[in-house]
Amino acid sequence: MPATSPGARGATITGWGSALPSKVVTNADLARTLDTSDEWIKERSGIAERRVGGSTAELSIESARRALAKSGVDPSEIDALVLSTTTPDRTVPATSARVQNALALTCGAFDVNAACSGFVYALTVAHGLIAIGARKVLVIGTDTLSRITDWTDRNTAVLFADGSGAVVLEACDGPGQLLAWDIDSDGSAEELLYSDIGGHIHMEGKEVFRRAVRIMVDSAQKSLTAAGVSAENISLVVPHQANIRIIEAACERLGIPMERAATVLRYTGNTSSASIPLALVDALDAGRVHAGDLVLLVGFGAGMTAGSAVLRWGGST
Ligand code: COA
Repeated sequence: MPATSPGARGATITGWGSALPSKVVTNADLARTLDTSDEWIKERSGIAERRVGGSTAELSIESARRALAKSGVDPSEIDALVLSTTTPDRTVPATSARVQNALALTCGAFDVNAACSGFVYALTVAHGLIAIGARKVLVIGTDTLSRITDWTDRNTAVLFADGSGAVVLEACDGPGQLLAWDIDSDGSAEELLYSDIGGHIHMEGKEVFRRAVRIMVDSAQKSLTAAGVSAENISLVVPHQANIRIIEAACERLGIPMERAATVLRYTGNTSSASIPLALVDALDAGRVHAGDLVLLVGFGAGMTAGSAVLRWGGST
């Protein structure tokens, strides 16, 4: 996949925000109804607790309001809303319709569904919109996986949860932040992780784990190569938050020390589209990212999909 075309109008993230439901579900809570334990869940996944509740629109509105406030951009200035979700509130219309109305946006709004890679897909699409003339784009990643989780299935119930993260992307004069990007799909892996309409998540956990590490590393390496940078130049990697062991294995293969990884899954669980922006917002709020730093976003998900992006924080003007 390509490096950003020379001469394309660049963009930078100027605002960010996140939202989590108030209800906390701990591992001990789950162990009351499932044949599992706090120890097993922590050791096998790195998750200690997760947040559950709210609709995809409600969480999106909350995180987007924070991102808009942080950027100082008025809702009327937004030229497009791209909402990544695999758990829309309705089949029709797109959940972005309700979010657009609640935020008083006056622009086009649409959903993107690439499962847990969705935020990287949405961010890539938003950069494309800016390259062809949009000035300010709101990008949100939200999922409410608790609504499609079978809470009697210990294989999946311990992993999935709800949350939202959003960024405001603005056109800038120079080449912008996105040095390179990659999006991948392998539809032959569909049966490994799916939920039918009205149904629950089914997952072949071991095989998803095995492929996840491989496709994350593969996608990240494509983006790093296209950007002309090496893993050791990456100041912060923001991986999809599915399992701490997947993140550790991918970082090891990429040659990026775990100290440079942004992780929130200990208290969020796997929030699909929200997981990368939640971890990014957490790292930004903690002051872990400075102008000029190279940031690698990398996700994988049902499909199976993968996506990655190399950003130079703050862009260059
Ligand atoms: N609590 C206790 N025991 C559990 C359990 C739970 N919640 N879930 C499974 N087990 C049991 C299994 O039944 C198995 O028992 P057995 O040895 O008697 O058969 C044992 O624990 C080991 O199961 P296994 O599947 O080998 O565990 P694992 O180390 O692969 O971890 C996952 C399971 C699901 C945590 C892990 O495979 C994973 O994270 N996969 C990727 C999932 C993912 O990322 N999905 C989202 C993609 S976006």
